[in-house]
Parts: sequence; C-alpha cells; structure tokens
Amino acid sequence: MNEWYKDWFSSEFYTTVYAHRNDSDAKLLSELILSKVELKKDDYILDAACGAGRYSKIFAGYDFNVVGFDLSLVLLNLALADNHHFNKNHFLINSDIRSTYFKRKFSLIFNLFTSFGYFNTEKENFLFFQNALDFIDENGVLVFDYFNSSYIKKNVIPYSEKNVDGFLVKETRITQDNRVIKNIDVTANNQTLSFLESVALYDHDFLIDKFNSLGYNITDVYGDYKGSPFNEENSERIIIFMKKR
Ligand SMILES: C[S@@+](CC[C@H](N)C(=O)[O-])C[C@H]1O[C@@H](n2cnc3c(N)ncnc32)[C@H](O)[C@@H]1O
Repeated sequence: MNEWYKDWFSSEFYTTVYAHRNDSDAKLLSELILSKVELKKDDYILDAACGAGRYSKIFAGYDFNVVGFDLSLVLLNLALADNHHFNKNHFLINSDIRSTYFKRKFSLIFNLFTSFGYFNTEKENFLFFQNALDFIDENGVLVFDYFNSSYIKKNVIPYSEKNVDGFLVKETRITQDNRVIKNIDVTANNQTLSFLESVALYDHDFLIDKFNSLGYNITDVYGDYKGSPFNEENSERIIIFMKKR
C-alpha cells in the first residue's frame, strides 16, 4: 500500500473535507482532557500529529508549554499562520511520528482524532507509544483518541456526498483486511482529484492489552468527547487515558 497519508494530509482539501473537525470540536475534547488531567502552568505538553494545530493552540492559550509535531508541512504552515494564538511557549516541529524522539519529558502527551493506524505493520503503528515511555513524566498522562473499530465495522457508510466551500466531495468507504479504506473525490470546475485514506482497525480489547503490554496503566476509557463511558456497541470513539507503569 502506498504512503497515502503523505498525499492526503498535504492536500489543500484535507481541511475542506474535515471542516467539521474545527475549533469547537477540539474545545470539547480539550475540556474533557483538562478536567481529568492535573496540570501546572510550566508543564510541557506534546501534541503528536498536531495537524493545523487545533489542540496545540487551545493548550498554548492556557499558557502551558506546547510542542506540536506533524509530517505535513501544509498543515504545520496553517498552524503557523494562525499566529494570533502563537506565543513563545508554542513550538512546531516537522517530524515523522515513527522517528520522533525527545530528550525532555512531558506531563501530557496526546494523539487525537485518529492520528493513528496509518501504517502497514502493528510495530510501526505502535512505535510512537513505545518510544513515548522515554519522554513522558513519571506521573504524566497520555491521551489517545481513535475511532471505535467495532462501531465502524457495523456502521460503515458505503457512500456519502457533501458540498463544502463550492467543492463536491464524494466519499466511498469499505472495511477490508482489517482496515477502513476511504476514497475521497473532490470536484470543482469539472476537475476531480482523488485521495485515499486507509486506517487499521484495532478493537478496544486489543488496544487495552497492547498499551498494557507496552508498559502503560489504563486509567480511563471514554466513548465520546463529552466523557460518556465507552460502549463497544454504540460508542463512535475510544478515548484512552493512560500513565506509565
Ligand atoms: C486526522 S489528522 C488529525 C490532526 C490533529 N490531531 C487534529 O485533531 O486536527 C492526522 C494527522 O496525522 C498527521 N500524520 C500522518 N502521518 C504522519 C506521520 N507519519 N508522522 C507524523 N504525522 C503524521 C497528518 O499530517 C495529520 O495532521
């Protein structure tokens, strides 16, 4: 399989197709995180695969020190352009999640909105969480927000269409080989560009076992951004809070 994530997240259309994943969506999950994690003013926070920086800027706005990294220069530039939120405590780094490593320790590390499962092997998909054990504080918290794969498998929407900012967006989805594969066609002025998303499906039990075996203690598991308990049947997301053992 190709490295689809390089093309798609470097496309100007990513933020168009996911326009609903905006600042108010990020505010909801940020509030859940802030209500569950005790943080002090000078703490360092790591936003792993920060994209256009929706979460980084919220936490930087609270005067925490925030480091965000991402592979996509296009999205990092959008984060940079949003510079009225930018302050001396907010840093952005262009880096691949598989090789990102820090000498300093973070009180909070998060990986949000399914910024996970893009690679072909389990080893690559979980490598960051293994490495993060070296740069999370002894009492630090890691927050992982991914879709509930059991829900996706039962409720996959094979086809949908929407109009966003004058673009026609057609999305087809299938689950195959334990991945959810989405084709995205964006049409404007009779011209169509096609993109691919392919994300590995790991279920609740697998994730919990895996994070445990890597060396984390799971502290909380939620099923949505409001903090409802996780339910395998009905929850659309899985949000796992964990600490280094
Ligand atoms: C679904 S977006 C979420 C972005 C951000 N967390 C948010 O909630 O807005 C996934 C992000 O993962 C980034 N990404 C994809 N592959 C990556 C890689 N190999 N290393 C680092 N970041 C990567 C993309 O560029 C994109 O910003």
